[in-house]
Amino acid sequence: MTNSAHTLSTRRTQGLRGTITIPGDKSISHRVAILGGLAAGRMTVKNYLCSQDCLNTLRAMQQIGANITPLRETPGYGVTDFILEGCSMQPQAPAQDIDCGNSGTGMRLLAGILAALPFTSKLYGDTSLCSRPMQRIIQPLSLMGADITALGEKPGCAPLLIRGTRLQPIHYNLPMASAQVKSAVLLAGIFAEGTTSVTQPAVTRDHTERLYTHFGIPCTVNGLTISTTGPADIRAKDITVPGDISSAAFWLVAATICPNSDITLLNVGLNETRTAVIDVLRRMGADIRITRRSAEHEGEPYGDISVRTPARLVATDILPEEIPNLIDEIPILAVAAAFAEGTTSIRNAKELRVKESDRIATTAGNLRRMGANVEEYEDGITVTGGAPLHGCTLPGYGDHRIAMSFLIAGLNAEGTTTLDTADAIDTSYPGFASHLAELSR
Ligand code: S3P
Repeated sequence: MTNSAHTLSTRRTQGLRGTITIPGDKSISHRVAILGGLAAGRMTVKNYLCSQDCLNTLRAMQQIGANITPLRETPGYGVTDFILEGCSMQPQAPAQDIDCGNSGTGMRLLAGILAALPFTSKLYGDTSLCSRPMQRIIQPLSLMGADITALGEKPGCAPLLIRGTRLQPIHYNLPMASAQVKSAVLLAGIFAEGTTSVTQPAVTRDHTERLYTHFGIPCTVNGLTISTTGPADIRAKDITVPGDISSAAFWLVAATICPNSDITLLNVGLNETRTAVIDVLRRMGADIRITRRSAEHEGEPYGDISVRTPARLVATDILPEEIPNLIDEIPILAVAAAFAEGTTSIRNAKELRVKESDRIATTAGNLRRMGANVEEYEDGITVTGGAPLHGCTLPGYGDHRIAMSFLIAGLNAEGTTTLDTADAIDTSYPGFASHLAELSR
């Protein structure tokens, strides 16, 4: 692997080997910052994801009154362990506008609490974030009485001006399978007097629900309906964030597509609303073994995963109900599909069009540039494997997961694969380049 200011390159590897510890889960880190930042008391947070996205959310909570005392810093990576002292539900108005950077999760979840707090605030972000749909949270929060104005050039987009007010509980039928929208409503529900509930069309990641239980916030789950009752107290409680399976996914695929690989990934979150990527890769023939699992009672299950190159990789159809539980892994699964015999179908995934980039177009475009056979549809792609990939210079579209996916593709391509805007990787996986170097050694 070579590295210059904004580009990263990979070449065909002789095989990946070694053991790495996967950095903290992005979704859980955002939620820990928000809930711990509101809580009464001090808590120790370990293995927080110190990526740009999650640091922005932590800074937002500091702006409204949370305090951080660093405990552990890994050189070249950042502070992963700290004491978080919440504002005891007595937040202060932020002195400056709040920067959410590239993070849809940060902005949508923060909007859920800011809508209920007794001051005016403004959330802004980068060009990608300011073109992503915010109406999906403005609509339910407005039904609760929130006063949110989308100030963006594109209708319904950030910056968001939020005039905090007293909220009413609602029942909301989620129109799309989105954990972010579900969580924005449930976070607002902490402040509304009475029971707020959300019914989702399909199971989505349930980190908010698990953290409500961890922090003593009322939460009941009945099938696809989740309810909370406010106003709720939040009690600080120590937490260790498990590794992010969405980050582990790059190595699951890398060791699967690169001959002579044998790697182990430590402390990976194994929440079953997130592990569909393992099911799909195993169906394709991947040799993935869970070699250790945490105890039953721990709030978020986690464990160690070993991956070896399989003898053969075959195509599969990703099922509609699997899509919400592997939505962030689709670009890297599409790369795996390019190495499988037959045609892999990834449909019912139109949400990909409104991620950090239009991931249907960006994944299909980059796969084609490398020589893969891809068909693009409004709601997904099909990839027919077998054509050898060739390296080239590819756009990263400022999208961390696109950049990482195609650097992994380059590990089994002819020549050199170079990604521009590779610095975007820091939004979710600041240690990616060093992990790649470590496993390639
Ligand atoms: C997330 C939910 C998903 C996912 C995102 C993180 C979360 O988005 O793509 O990376 O932490 O709730 P949607 O809820 O929009 O599907």
